[in-house]
Amino acid sequence: MNTQLIVDKFEELYGSGAELFASPGRINLIGEHTDYNGGFVFPGAVDKGVVAAIRLNGTQKVRAFALDLGESSEFGFDEADKPAEAWACYLFGVCREILKRGGTIGGFDTVFSGDVPLGAGMSSSAALESTYAFALNELCGCGIDKFELARIGQATEHNYCGVKCGIMDQFASVFGKKGCLMRLDCRSMEFEYFPFDPKGYRLMLVNSRVKHELVGSPYNDRRASCERVAKVLGQEFLRGATMEQLDAIRDGITDEDYRRARYVVGEERRVLDVCDALRRGDYETVGRRMYETHWGMSQEYEVSCEELDFLVRVAEECGVSGSRIMGGGFGGCTINLVKEELYDRFVSEAKKRFAEKYGHEPQIYDVVISDGARRL
Ligand code: GLA
Repeated sequence: MNTQLIVDKFEELYGSGAELFASPGRINLIGEHTDYNGGFVFPGAVDKGVVAAIRLNGTQKVRAFALDLGESSEFGFDEADKPAEAWACYLFGVCREILKRGGTIGGFDTVFSGDVPLGAGMSSSAALESTYAFALNELCGCGIDKFELARIGQATEHNYCGVKCGIMDQFASVFGKKGCLMRLDCRSMEFEYFPFDPKGYRLMLVNSRVKHELVGSPYNDRRASCERVAKVLGQEFLRGATMEQLDAIRDGITDEDYRRARYVVGEERRVLDVCDALRRGDYETVGRRMYETHWGMSQEYEVSCEELDFLVRVAEECGVSGSRIMGGGFGGCTINLVKEELYDRFVSEAKKRFAEKYGHEPQIYDVVISDGARRL
């Protein structure tokens, strides 16, 4: 990303003295829709994210400029000051959530830009939230710990953006570490860094460029299904439930809720299998679990779409080791574990066959696992 453009725009609009902060988007190897079920996730931060120039302005107002949209917004810190621009609600939400936690923040001027493709399932919104949560914590000396910074981003989604998301995206954006994936237990919040360097394989994303919109989407409905089933089981979370337990309550829940819960219970097992396989360096098992996740998300959880199913079939036919839809669903990217020698062939097949069918080529990104929120 060209940070000079951000600095130049800041100076043009607000003068000198800004500091630069950045936070990344994320990938997730496996463990999808498990976070809000108290389960495991396996994300890593990527080399794409948000960069913001920011300087306290000595008032109680925020003046913000979104460089990529060429739009500005101004707002105060009261609940009634919620801005009209959707992107500005992320900044506003972060400010509100810091204040709710007793943090003292001042007004600021800011310009930001991002290179996480929007709607690709790579958490562009978490990158934005983490950038400002991290920056304000540093600049205003709030003394908030990193887990709470992630929760501030999550609460912003819940309270100001209408998505009842789990903690994975904000966690990954704050805690990311170069070269490492992270296995997070979303119930205890314990996590472990896993150095990830699959010799002979490449991890890459194929972006269908079909956009998903989590706001007002079935994402919240999926979460509600899981909560209903957990309640019938007498548990706080679906985490820890078995297929046998689900079968035992089957008559007391809808078929749809049953299918959703089956997916989640299966996914918990798959994440643990993948961890074991990674410890053995067994990437073929990792890949097989990725395919299983895909078809579970497609048929049981029903968050895939035709274009993503098509890309996964192309991967299967090319002999790619693992492929699945990544993130919340309803469009976006597939994540693929590809043997080096198959890489070029898969890329050209995926581009050609997708374009033939859907009229545009997908975008390809190599995953570069990178650091989390930071001052530049
Ligand atoms: C979105 C949410 C996350 C998580 C994923 C699915 O990215 O923000 O909390 O639930 O979907 O794994």
